[in-house]
Amino acid sequence: MSQLRVLSGIQPSGKLTLGNYIGAMRNFVALQDEHECFFMVVDLHAITVPQEPAALREQSEAVAALFVAAGIDPAKAAIFMQSHVHGHSELGWLMTTLSYMGELERMTQFKDKSEGKDAVGAGLFVYPALMAADILLYNSNLVPVGDDQKQHLELTRDLAGRFNHKFGDTFVVPEPFIPKVGARIMSLDDASKKMSKSNPNAGSAISLLDSPDEIRKKISRAKTDLGREVIFDVQNKPEISNLLSIYAQCSGQTIEQIQATYDGQGYGAFKKDLAEVVVNALEPLQRKYTDIRSSGAIHDILRDGAERANVVADKTLRAAKEAMGFLPSAR
Ligand code: TYM
Repeated sequence: MSQLRVLSGIQPSGKLTLGNYIGAMRNFVALQDEHECFFMVVDLHAITVPQEPAALREQSEAVAALFVAAGIDPAKAAIFMQSHVHGHSELGWLMTTLSYMGELERMTQFKDKSEGKDAVGAGLFVYPALMAADILLYNSNLVPVGDDQKQHLELTRDLAGRFNHKFGDTFVVPEPFIPKVGARIMSLDDASKKMSKSNPNAGSAISLLDSPDEIRKKISRAKTDLGREVIFDVQNKPEISNLLSIYAQCSGQTIEQIQATYDGQGYGAFKKDLAEVVVNALEPLQRKYTDIRSSGAIHDILRDGAERANVVADKTLRAAKEAMGFLPSAR
């Protein structure tokens, strides 16, 4: 594969989970050697639901440090805050004007997040137009995401096509890069819901920074199905199947190997070992995270990342505005 542009983002709206790691961040790391990569902390997206300023600041820095701790090399990939690159807000507005109410109303993430609330922010509604801008601003070819972002990616492709058709070829139409396994890690208390950093039940998700004891406790309390066999069967054993996926993703073993190991042993032995597998998988990341936070290096990394991102973003934004008929500015 020749060198492609890769872009993705993660919201600093809570503690990053094992789902974020397996579904997205691990692929960021895998793509950085071959491709030109841009990975950002999408703080402008996080404020589509209310955020405490102090918590937003802390979570933003934490997510940026986790990028590095997970193995993203700032010398290879640009790591930056979305709000440090003004082009996101500006192209976000341009994309909002091209979006239809009907297509935004169909977004399942909007439906889930607004359900049952009487005061729903307009930002939450136009969120997908900003996400399209994020991607198109870099003329990204590939967007590594988990399964839940597929619909947003389809809208991005539609908006790119609509813009190009109306105003002339300007944007690359991006492709989603969704892993075949691990694209949808489910909640520990209910395997019909995805594991999410915004779930108020802390026991439902393993946070990347949970201590070994917290991880052991959460896994020992994780919901299981009737019976006692450790078998992958999403229809009849959704909870155990999810735990098996996590085991496979964190250990590198196949589902068949794991099933064979626990044949006849029941859920107890399996969960006990699963906890250790997860603890071991996260240990290097947690060690590196502590080092990065205490070194303060993240601020330089973010400054450098934003500089690199701005160069590309400014150029695309200028081309898009010119195509739409805005007068060029004097600068
Ligand atoms: P966010 O912050 O909810 O999640 C970040 C990434 O983690 C993936 N993910 C999961 N993968 C597997 N299993 C899970 N349980 C799980 N939970 C989350 C998500 O699919 C995502 O890839 N709208 C985006 C952020 C965004 C973005 C972008 C992404 C804004 N602009 C531009 C790509 C490109 C979001 O809310 O992700």
